[in-house]
Amino acid sequence: MSLASKLAGKASTVAVVCNQWGDTGKGKFVDLLGEWAEVIARGTGGANAGHTVRVGEKKYIFHLVPSGILYDAKGTWNIIGGGTAFDPRAMVEELGILDREGLSYTHLLIAQNARLVLPQHILLDRVQESAAKQGKIGTTGRGIGPVYADYYARMGLCVNDLLNKDSFRKKLERNLREKLRLLRSYDPAVIREILHHPHLEQGRFWEAREFLNSEAIIEAYTAYGRRLEGMIRETDVFVREAHAKKQRILLEGAQGNLLSVDIGTYPFVTSSDCSLRGLAQGVGLRERDVDLCLGIVRGFYMTRVGEGPFPTELGGAQSAVWCATAGITKVTEAAQFPHASLDDQDSFSQGIGLRMAGDEYGATTGRPRRTGWLDLPLLRYCLAYSGPEVIFTKLDVLDTAKEICICTEYVYKGPEYRLGATLFQKGMKIRTAVADPEILAYCVPVYRCFPGWHTSISGVRDYAALPRALKDLTSFVEKEVGVRVRVLSVGPDRGQTIVL
Ligand code: IMP
Repeated sequence: MSLASKLAGKASTVAVVCNQWGDTGKGKFVDLLGEWAEVIARGTGGANAGHTVRVGEKKYIFHLVPSGILYDAKGTWNIIGGGTAFDPRAMVEELGILDREGLSYTHLLIAQNARLVLPQHILLDRVQESAAKQGKIGTTGRGIGPVYADYYARMGLCVNDLLNKDSFRKKLERNLREKLRLLRSYDPAVIREILHHPHLEQGRFWEAREFLNSEAIIEAYTAYGRRLEGMIRETDVFVREAHAKKQRILLEGAQGNLLSVDIGTYPFVTSSDCSLRGLAQGVGLRERDVDLCLGIVRGFYMTRVGEGPFPTELGGAQSAVWCATAGITKVTEAAQFPHASLDDQDSFSQGIGLRMAGDEYGATTGRPRRTGWLDLPLLRYCLAYSGPEVIFTKLDVLDTAKEICICTEYVYKGPEYRLGATLFQKGMKIRTAVADPEILAYCVPVYRCFPGWHTSISGVRDYAALPRALKDLTSFVEKEVGVRVRVLSVGPDRGQTIVL
């Protein structure tokens, strides 16, 4: 039996979501289960996500094309659902890569109701972030916040609008009139500079008086519409029919529970509900239609990109500031901290060591990801949304660590703060996190530290052959938070997977 069939068991609809702030390695499991699936669907997020697809020796980072695209040739449907933020420019660019590589995408469908990312959304996202003194989110600059804001303000456009020039023009002009009012409050020089970014076609849409040239947008976007029209469909109906026929459906999560606009650490979140609930809804299903939800957790650490509290962050505020500094990349960091290691006594350097060991640099932005130990209070919080079936990924990253610490609970050290009926006071112990940054910012982790396993596990394929120290840690987490670990991932390749 293949690993994928063993993992899916009797389920016919399986979802893969993340129990942290994203980047836990969902792509590997979408790829692995992609072999089993007949339909693979994304339901939330947009070009803010990034996953690496290996084509022979080459690696590509795709943002919109689903991770299962390499299965297209065997007839697997890949669907970009209605809950996503769809940027046609990014999509056409990615299709260009598939064309150049001779890869087929004849079963790729795009929801007609996906929210349409337009130049004004990317511009606003960037201009708002660059102007923010306080309240910066650290977004990926892909227009995600403004596009969902337009949707809920009932002035958004959707993919279908690309197919009808007259209604596209009408809706676009209304939207731009509104945006112009907002844009007038920002520095025109900054607007001009942003509009010359490659994601905004190097100034193609820029215009001095109204900033955005609607004719240029109409021309470019209706051309995208012509390029994509054969793929645009009512995908909700398609997925529901596949579900009714008991076809094998794989739902590909984006980001993570803690970044969900509904259940995450608001406002330091993305703007879609990237939990299981949002994912199911974003492809036209109900949460209860999902037979198996696999929630990914890095073993035994976590990362965060962008702003917002992160109680177990190694190096604390120093790390947060360092990771937010413009221009720091994997290369510059390695040059500045050649000796940083997982066992550093200084926690800031240890965080860098962990980042290097796990290659934790943003797939979309290249930013260094903030790193810290696994946080069980936050995991307990997430499980209420994604259930108890868990996958531990990236375990090999900690192969050389002398000691591995796990946060079992917090002590609250902030001012008195009322959350509903609960009054948070200094010294209070917290076992299950709450997603309110006003509280999380003052949560001091209590750690339990364990010896590492000091050996390479990337060649191990059987649970029995894993080091005792790793097995003990896994059982400790299982008991502490009440999860069932289904998979231990010991490396990036499909085969480096132990299904329990
Ligand atoms: P946005 O989704 O670009 O609006 O960014 C909002 C927040 O979500 C920022 O802190 C981003 O760093 C974070 N974010 C968005 N997408 C991802 C992702 O795929 N991985 C990790 N963080 C993400």
